[in-house]
Amino acid sequence: MSEEFHKVRRLPPYVFEQVNRLKASARAAGADIIDLGMGNPDLPTPKGIVDKLCEAVQDPRTHRYSASKGIPGLRRAQAQYYARRFGVKLNPETQVVATLGSKEGFANMAQAITAPGDVVLCPDPTYPIHAFGFIMSGGVIRSIQARPDDSFIPALERAVRHSIPKPLALILNYPSNPTAHVATLDFYRDIVAFARKHEIIVLSDLAYSEIYFDETPPPSVLQVPGAMDVAVEFTSMSKTFSMPGWRIGFAVGNERLIAALTRVKSYLDYGAFTPIQVAATAALNGDGSDITEVRSIYKRRRDVLVDSFARAGWDIPSPAATMFAWAPIPERFRMLGSLEFSKLLIEMADVAVAPGIGFGEHGDDYVRIALVENEHRIRQAARSIKRFLATKEENLHNVIPLNVHR
Ligand SMILES: Cc1ncc(COP(=O)(O)O)c(C=O)c1O
Repeated sequence: MSEEFHKVRRLPPYVFEQVNRLKASARAAGADIIDLGMGNPDLPTPKGIVDKLCEAVQDPRTHRYSASKGIPGLRRAQAQYYARRFGVKLNPETQVVATLGSKEGFANMAQAITAPGDVVLCPDPTYPIHAFGFIMSGGVIRSIQARPDDSFIPALERAVRHSIPKPLALILNYPSNPTAHVATLDFYRDIVAFARKHEIIVLSDLAYSEIYFDETPPPSVLQVPGAMDVAVEFTSMSKTFSMPGWRIGFAVGNERLIAALTRVKSYLDYGAFTPIQVAATAALNGDGSDITEVRSIYKRRRDVLVDSFARAGWDIPSPAATMFAWAPIPERFRMLGSLEFSKLLIEMADVAVAPGIGFGEHGDDYVRIALVENEHRIRQAARSIKRFLATKEENLHNVIPLNVHR
């Protein structure tokens, strides 16, 4: 019984855990670590949504098991959101399912549709569940370097030519965690044409649909005519309404895929606690001011981060969306790789970030910086990093591991 279980063997230790451990021990030793590591929104859920939860919980009927696929009003509210925001018409009965956060929905979709050995095209770098949801389900991942540009479709075509069996599904995530890349509708048109041609399922993770800073909001793949034949899209209340702990998200799109996910979920859960679903319904049916407020806070933080880090000597491209900056490791430290560099930032600058390698091999020249501390703390992080970057070479030799090989 000592051998590791088959599934557990396929899940490498979480890279972020190493940084978390270092962070915890630094804090235990009294350091004031500024934590820009995990993408855990720090903003409180808007009061109107919390009030709605408190009101609903007073009714004992809400204490029973709820509806696994989501209460009808919640599914209707999500369909109305898609109609308003994207001009996409959804049938709330057959094309919408509520999930316990988009992560659960994504992982159970993988479970619902994957046969052992099925090949799945997955961007790299990307949010870990995109690959590991399928790996846990017995699938095989073929990584495609994540770029919403001219090189992506040829890379997909190449992957299809060289995959046996032919890929089952393609995963997309724009605006991207971690790169913050945003896709255009033209890009999605090409994707839908590709997917229809090869009969490949498209799973689009649109968790950052509302966290954007440019004039043009990120599109949905379902806006493309014909997308409904091949695609499902996941959205999340976690970032849009600062509700990460509530665990509410959605899958919408192709009826056959939604039915498969709904069936699997009907065996696994009884739905989110009804008061949470009632409050989520009120959030989606709101006037949009909560979303505008959340967006403007992240935008201000983004501007402070990019400005103050540039003044500290670290040029970071300004992200057009998401709550992350995808920061190239300063040249001088790049040979360390992202894990060692992240550890160094904790030890030398009291700043925690997420190592890019945690999102895939193509992420190792980067760290992901999350906008989850306030503007004052972000400036404080920049000052501390400025001091660190000014450290003389000879003083770094004590702390930089000499045996680092990437
Ligand atoms: C791209 C992406 N998808 C999904 C999630 C998880 O969202 P949820 O809280 O809805 O499960 C995150 C959270 O960080 C994310 O960045």
